Amino acid sequence: MTTFFTELKRGTAASHTALEATYPFSTMMKPAVFDRQAYTQNLLILASFHNCVSNFIQNIENSELLSEFIDTDAVMQAISHDLIALGRQPDFPDFPLISSAESPEHALAGAYVWMGSSMGARILYRWLNHAGYEDFPTAYYQQMIALGQRWPEFVEHGLDYVQQHKLDVDACIDIANQLFDGLQVCANTLSHQKHHPA
Ligand code: HEM
Repeated sequence: MTTFFTELKRGTAASHTALEATYPFSTMMKPAVFDRQAYTQNLLILASFHNCVSNFIQNIENSELLSEFIDTDAVMQAISHDLIALGRQPDFPDFPLISSAESPEHALAGAYVWMGSSMGARILYRWLNHAGYEDFPTAYYQQMIALGQRWPEFVEHGLDYVQQHKLDVDACIDIANQLFDGLQVCANTLSHQKHHPA
């Protein structure tokens, strides 16, 4: 059964790689191109993603088994805190609508991408603090690191959820990839605005 999560990871690996290659994610850990604007845009995109998942997951029946791990209020508060500290209102871009997000597969895929993003958070937080960006606000990354510590427990509960709802792994992979695509669309919208201000 652990292969369910192995399959999810395998099925979304290409989307993850593509996202990492997209501005502003592509500037992370690259001092020559990383700056305050890239950091701010990164947080705006993530705010849009977290807002979307947090909205749909709470409307999916019996998803508490998963949503207890993602701590939506704390994550949204942390990200707003950081954006305000960076001088931005948390006026994040709209996340592209994903097909009616009501199934248990949506809950699992949303929680998976949310919890999975804590892995990059740990690395990025360490880098920010050792590469001269100590003055950047990092409440969001600290919050994600805290969530990430519960990853093994999340997987265990996730597998129970998979069994209870007889989830289809390919449907979950599809939805997780739609979320990664949404992150890309948000990233492209913001960088388009950067080059062509309204
Ligand atoms: C530049 C930004 C990012 C970096 C450097 C990064 C880095 C990483 C790393 C190192 C891993 C662990 C890979 C492994 O164990 O083999 C990972 C996994 C993952 N990341 Fe990212 N990541 C970034 C952005 C994101 C974003 C924005 C999201 C989604 C919002 C995300 C979602 C995931 C997911 C779902 C996994 C897979 C978890 C698993 O199944 O084990 N990542 N990331």
